[in-house]
Amino acid sequence: MSTPNTPDGQPFGTPASFCDCMTRSFDNRVPPEVRSIIADECILPLGLSPRVLDLGCGPGLWLREVTTLRRDATVVGYDRDPDMLANAARLGISQAEWKQADIGGPSFTLPAASADVIAMQFFFHFFDDPRPLLATVRTALKPGGSLIIIGWVRSSLPAFLSLMGEMGRREGAQSVPVEGRREGDDPEARAWQMYAGFNRYTPVDIRWLLTREGFTVRRDAQYSEYFAYTIASPNAQ
Ligand SMILES: C[S@@+](CC[C@H](N)C(=O)[O-])C[C@H]1O[C@@H](n2cnc3c(N)ncnc32)[C@H](O)[C@@H]1O
Repeated sequence: MSTPNTPDGQPFGTPASFCDCMTRSFDNRVPPEVRSIIADECILPLGLSPRVLDLGCGPGLWLREVTTLRRDATVVGYDRDPDMLANAARLGISQAEWKQADIGGPSFTLPAASADVIAMQFFFHFFDDPRPLLATVRTALKPGGSLIIIGWVRSSLPAFLSLMGEMGRREGAQSVPVEGRREGDDPEARAWQMYAGFNRYTPVDIRWLLTREGFTVRRDAQYSEYFAYTIASPNAQ
């Protein structure tokens, strides 16, 4: 399986402050109208005792929401960052499992036909070559199950730099060292590093890719200048 091209994947700050940033920005990144589409399409119609996975779950907030919608669900969050998983565990969700895993690593597997829903939120853009991961997800989903991808899509360079500048000022990017530079030398340097990875796909590319990799896209939309969601099901194998 390919390794994510941005190993830390974090725009600003230490692992702990990144976790904070993911927690604080959760509602802004995915507004209520998108959450309710996901709930209505993917969570509420599920049969009894569904199993819902979140790859790159971060502090676990989406899975908490799933358990409020479906008290009978078992939810499993995967992340490689122990700080994120510790925060998720502190949510105290009895039907949750939090698993440390390198989702880009060669030992990452999921049991076949075991999941009703697999989500990747602000995670898919990390992969230089996402085909092996998509193959794993396709096999792990039950027939009719849902793959949900939410996250970054291509935006213009000025729009991206402007958003990162705004986030950087809010999150204290100036204090983040970037290789080869002294702290504070160039607050824009991190945004330039991230541009290629975060701007990898258009929504049309994601639709095309999923179709080619054995999924049927049921619904997708770009809901802001930077973010889109896609809901897809695996084709019969
Ligand atoms: C941008 S955060 C998004 C977190 C969460 N999905 C959300 O939207 O709030 C990306 C998450 O992916 C995790 N991550 C990045 N690469 C990973 C990998 N190879 N394996 C497992 N987790 C990874 C990071 O630790 C981080 O928690």
